[in-house]
Formats: sequence, C-alpha cells, structure tokens
Amino acid sequence: MTAVDVARIRDDFPILDQLINGKPLVYLDNAATTQKPRPVIDAISNYYLHNNSNVHRGVHTLSQRATDDYEAGREAIRRFINAPDASEIIYVRGTTEGLNLVASSYGRKFFKAGDEVIITGMEHHSNIVPWQILGKEIGIRLRVIPFNDQGELLMDEYEGMLNDRTRLVSVVHQSNALGTINPVSAIVELAHARGVPVMLDTAQSVPHMPIDVQDLGVDFATFSGHKMYGPTGIGVLWGRADLLNEMPPYQTGGEMIRSVTFEETIYNVLPHKFEAGTPDIAGAIGLGAAVEYLEAIGMGRIAAYEQALMRYGAERLAEIEGVRLIGTAANRGGVLSFYMEAAHAHDIGTILDAEGIAVRTGHHCAQPVMARYEIPATVRASLSFYNTTEEIDALIKGIDRVIEVFG
Ligand SMILES: Cc1ncc(COP(=O)(O)O)c(C=O)c1O
Repeated sequence: MTAVDVARIRDDFPILDQLINGKPLVYLDNAATTQKPRPVIDAISNYYLHNNSNVHRGVHTLSQRATDDYEAGREAIRRFINAPDASEIIYVRGTTEGLNLVASSYGRKFFKAGDEVIITGMEHHSNIVPWQILGKEIGIRLRVIPFNDQGELLMDEYEGMLNDRTRLVSVVHQSNALGTINPVSAIVELAHARGVPVMLDTAQSVPHMPIDVQDLGVDFATFSGHKMYGPTGIGVLWGRADLLNEMPPYQTGGEMIRSVTFEETIYNVLPHKFEAGTPDIAGAIGLGAAVEYLEAIGMGRIAAYEQALMRYGAERLAEIEGVRLIGTAANRGGVLSFYMEAAHAHDIGTILDAEGIAVRTGHHCAQPVMARYEIPATVRASLSFYNTTEEIDALIKGIDRVIEVFG
C-alpha cells in the first residue's frame, strides 16, 4: 500500500492539517468533494494575481496569457481521459450540467414520444431528473436496470430492455452511494450492437482510476472538477465530435456564435458552440493543474492504493456487530456506505464529527438506492489517496463510540 507516498502527499493539502473539535481532522467525505492540493490553489491565485483577463477576445498580453492557460487546461483534460481531440472537451459547471446539456440538446433534437432511455437503479438524481423532464415534455420512457443485493447490475435484464425504441443508455460508472463499478464495456457492447449511444457519468470514477474514453467505447462522459481535486463550478462534458456537431447549442450568447445579424446567427465551432458567455476561467486553469497533479502521482497507483484501503475498511466494519455494509459488489471503489439499526445516520455523523471525522450521512442524492434497501439513509465514508489505515482505525473507534452512546 506504500506505492503512494501518503505522508508527502498530505503536505500538499494544507487543509488536512487541522484540529476539528480538538481532534485531528479525518476527512472521509471525498465522494461529495475532495480537498485541493497547493498546485491547484497556486494556479488559481496565480491567474488572479498575474493574468486575470477575459479569454478569446483580447489582443492584449493578459488576455492571451489567460486564453493560453485556459486552453492548456482543456488539452490536459483531453490527455487525461484520452479523448481524440481537445475540441470535444466542453467546459461545463460539473456533472449535473453535463447530463442536463446532453438531455436538453441531444434529447430534444433526437427523441420523440415513445422513445426509451435506459439508466440504472443506482443513478445520482442528476442522471434521473433530466430524463424524467423529457418524459413529461416529449413523452419518452425511462427504463431502469435493477441491481442485486450486493449492488451489481442485472445484465440480463438490461439486455432484455434494449429494443428498437431505445435511443440512449445513460449510466453511472461508479456509484456514489454503493461504490459499485459498473461493467461499462459490456454495457456499451450491447448498446452499440443496436446502434444506441452510451453516456457515462464518470463523476466518481475519473478521480479514482485511469479513464480512457476511447477504450471504454462510450459516446459521452461527464465529470466534476471539485471531485477530482480541482475547484468547484467547473467540470467537463466530453462527447464524440460527430454527435456534438449535430447537437444544437444548450445556451446562447457570446462566444458560442460565429456571426449574428438580427435575422440569423451562425454558431461557432466546437467546443465554443457549447460555451456561451464568459466561462469559469480560473476554474478551468485550476482543473488543468489538478489533472497534472493526479498524473504525477499516477492513476493506476491511486486506484490500487484506494482499493487496498477500501478492502481494509470493509473488513474492519464487518467485524462490528450491528453495522451493515450497503454495497458489496465484487468490483467496487473507495466507498464504505453502512447502516446501523441502533442509530440514525445523522446521529452517527454528529458523533463522528465530535471525534473530528467528516463523513456524509443521508441518501446521497440517490434516493432510489435507499428505497431498494428499504433504509432511509446510510453513513458514507469515501476515500482518497491522502487517507490512511490509521484514519480508518479512527473511524472504527468513532463507531465504537456510537455503540457506547446508542447501545
Ligand atoms: C455519480 C454522481 N453523479 C453526479 C453527481 C453530481 O455532481 P455535481 O454536483 O458536481 O454536478 C455526483 C455528485 O455527488 C455523483 O456522485
């Protein structure tokens, strides 16, 4: 587990070095948002200190510097996910906006009443609601792939759902509530055999494992900067150029136009067609720095380290009577979601906070997952490469404290 030099890495994250309620902070809420390393913070402050200017429109030096750095971020992201071309990298606010963009633009253009979109039963609300809205507006039907008690998709059911009315399969890569890593290649193979494109919600996978969109074979992928050690307010939609080129703009205004008269507007080329208005320039630059930071550690090493940490945590949790792990798929990432009959998740979270331990409690914006297990909420400890086995031990001690209080 030492392939990642955690002690050195933790020095890059100043926020981790503090006491919360008199105890060293144990930050285990990484699926909600990750902390930011110094190079990301420095890249953002460097932009505001030295280069602040609007992009793409200026001939002056500051504008050119800002544009170069903004576009360098795009190229870094292209490389990171092995997209064929930087023009396919669309800056958005985050995963939610990426999903809404595809639903709004692709869906409104290509779907008609009676068409079907397939999702899984473990989607974040962001990959449910945009399609539901199209259901109300256009009359499309949402089909949901169920999963077993471990949290693994029932692939036979999926295969049976694909038919001549299927227009899109939009699935989560790694579930934020269960940790399940879904079998993307098999999902894509079945969809593509029927000519159906696949959209992948990679919010929880891009920060934790090597992602190659060409290797995965998907047609769209979207993720959030703030979950991958970058800033909030910035994220990415990647799509195949031929699909993006056929899609109408999502929002309109500056930068997405080539020319405007009162009679007609000619749209700009990719990626600008989808980037209306002044973008989050500092965010894009910060995200570029986050990508470089992750590349320097190595995504393969990150995945291996977090796997080992998750397995250790799952074993320790399994030893505690009264703790039920929710999400035990054979292939899963660094998420430890659990339920205790003895105490409500929010009470557990409050006791853990008193011990300096930050976890998330609730339905994790995946209420259908809670319904599937007939529980109101879970406590979720979600891991990063800066977490340690000692921090898992602190979590276990915190849970012992919960048992002392609630019996
Ligand atoms: C799997 C998944 N999809 C989508 C989202 C939404 O991400 P954002 O709020 O950054 O748009 C999240 C956030 O928790 C997520 O975990």
